Amino acid sequence: MPKNLTVVVLAAGGGTRMKSKTMKVLHPIGGRSMIGHVLHAVQQAEPTQIIAVVGTQRDTVGPHILEHAPGAVLAVQESLDGTGDAVRVALQAIGGSVTGTVLVVTGDTPLLRGESLRDFAEEHDAAERAVSVLTGVVGNPFGYGRIVRNDEGDVEAIVEEKDATPAQREIAEINSGILAFDAEFLTGAIGQLRNHNAGGEYYLTDTVGIAREAGLTVGAHLLDDVMQTEGANDRVQLATLGRELNRRIVVDWMRAGVTVMDPATTWIDADVVLSRDVTLLPGTQLIGATVVAEDAVIGPDTTLKDCEIGVGARIVRTHGELAVIGDGASVGPFAYLRPGTSLGEAGKIGTFVETKNSTIGAGSKVPHLSYVGDAEIGEATNIGAGTIFANYDGKKKHRTTVGSRTKTGSNNTFIAPVSIGDDASTGGGTTVRRDVPDGALAVSASPQRNIAGWAARRAALDSDDEK
Ligand code: UD1
Ligand code: CA
Repeated sequence: MPKNLTVVVLAAGGGTRMKSKTMKVLHPIGGRSMIGHVLHAVQQAEPTQIIAVVGTQRDTVGPHILEHAPGAVLAVQESLDGTGDAVRVALQAIGGSVTGTVLVVTGDTPLLRGESLRDFAEEHDAAERAVSVLTGVVGNPFGYGRIVRNDEGDVEAIVEEKDATPAQREIAEINSGILAFDAEFLTGAIGQLRNHNAGGEYYLTDTVGIAREAGLTVGAHLLDDVMQTEGANDRVQLATLGRELNRRIVVDWMRAGVTVMDPATTWIDADVVLSRDVTLLPGTQLIGATVVAEDAVIGPDTTLKDCEIGVGARIVRTHGELAVIGDGASVGPFAYLRPGTSLGEAGKIGTFVETKNSTIGAGSKVPHLSYVGDAEIGEATNIGAGTIFANYDGKKKHRTTVGSRTKTGSNNTFIAPVSIGDDASTGGGTTVRRDVPDGALAVSASPQRNIAGWAARRAALDSDDEK
């Protein structure tokens, strides 16, 4: 690894082809922004410093970059005068002088891997070149800078699409936009760039010609896995790269011991963490910082965002967000776990149950048709079918507590704030408005009356009406 590595991340362009109010590099893919993926890869190359060039929407892009790379220096490019100008602005931001190796990357290549950057920087350093270009051979090179080589195969120049001759446009080897420089050479070359070209811009790629003229070494590193250097300029490319990124993540997890029944309908974000022998059934989406422990089975048709799932838990047809599910617990089918849900070991959140901001203790069950909001339920308690934790009085939310080993009847309403003790019971149809002590039975439904002969009398009344 280069001992003294500076990485410049170019992210000043707006990305008009996205047709979006959101900057191109902030578009999400695989659970991070595009630039989030790039910064992640960059950090794996262990740079001494990172300089990010921002311009369009710097107020949103700048803080986002610092979130992903806290030590980065932000350089502001006032007008988008080209990649060469962007690097000039970057060097200026650190006082104009830099030593060691400088790696320039663009902010929109979400599939880029840290190890590719490392290998590239290492090769550049070992070869003691002035400039190295990371290149790829693509099916359709339109829009890219073409790599022009001489008869010996040495890189002579990079020619941009707009400036290329018809013969040069036939070249399939392209500039990925990722280049490595000897810092001293770069500092000098940046000052020599001119914008006398079809784009009227300062091209960073002109440094290749400058190095050649000075008799310095230029080299290229061809990356076989060309998708790593592909950028998403519009939403069609974003979706294509998104599917490919997901395919790679799913394959990596299968190789790490996760069973994925249907890779095509399984979506796993980059920051999700899975354990061995997890099983993912078709239609499963694991989003954000979701963590799933060994032997858990998720799906089918389940979305979990920022959830933590315990060993051997079973989650069926569920939508969950910011929920913690204990070992051996069971959820669904058709459960909605809202933020702050915590289910203890071997607990159950069953069918057509919605939970929010509630702790349900070990072995406790909410099996059917219920809403549990702002509640604390002890251990080994059973909540009857069709129970509503009425947590909202129209103005404020209130909490309900239910103790351990308590059994509540079906079709109950708990009007918060209220508390039901340990080993307590409630009758079917109870509306709990006052606290229930430990061991007590609460009933609130009025005693049932049976009115004998009612059907016959009603029939008689009806036939009178018809007369
Ligand atoms: C650039 C390369 C081209 C390469 C292609 C790969 C140049 C002159 N051309 O072309 O050889 O094949 O990338 O995608 O370098 N940016 C700034 N400030 C600017 C201009 C650009 O920060 O003034 C940033 C953009 O936000 C983007 C990156 O630099 O992240 C590349 O800019 P872009 O306009 O996409 O360059 P291309 O024309 O695609
Ligand atoms: Ca581009």
